Amino acid sequence: MDDKELVQLAIAAREHAYVPYSHFAVGAALLTGDGTVYQGCNIENAAYTPSNCAERTAFFKAVFDGVRDFRAIAVVGGPEGKPISEWCAPCGVCRQVMREFCDPDSFRIILARSEDEMKPYLLRDLLPMGFGPEDLDKPAPAQAAH
Ligand code: THU
Repeated sequence: MDDKELVQLAIAAREHAYVPYSHFAVGAALLTGDGTVYQGCNIENAAYTPSNCAERTAFFKAVFDGVRDFRAIAVVGGPEGKPISEWCAPCGVCRQVMREFCDPDSFRIILARSEDEMKPYLLRDLLPMGFGPEDLDKPAPAQAAH
């Protein structure tokens, strides 16, 4: 699974976005340690605050399946019904969810504004000095007993 394939899966995931309020459709594709990919889309709500971002949809699907070992996530977003053309960076809440389950020094966040235009970042670059499980003397979730 290379970065371009992961971006293609994020673009496909975006088709599932439920966005009647913002009309901004986001797709994510989360690569796990064993090579499995979890896709996610944003899912909005009439009460607004229960809305879930694409990145968290992908993470929560994986964690429900017992997966806690993650390598990279591709994220794409833009106005609903149009092809992506601009970068879409994860919101702060999603960055914090990544920090819970991922090593900031190696987990990669791949932004794309087309299948061929990508910008890779490390989690540590997008969430400097993040607060994580080890700050509460907890082991990293990937190593914790299920
Ligand atoms: N959104 C995501 O799903 N991921 C991001 O990276 C940025 C924002 C969603 C939340 C909301 O449904 C819509 O995009 C507009 O903010």
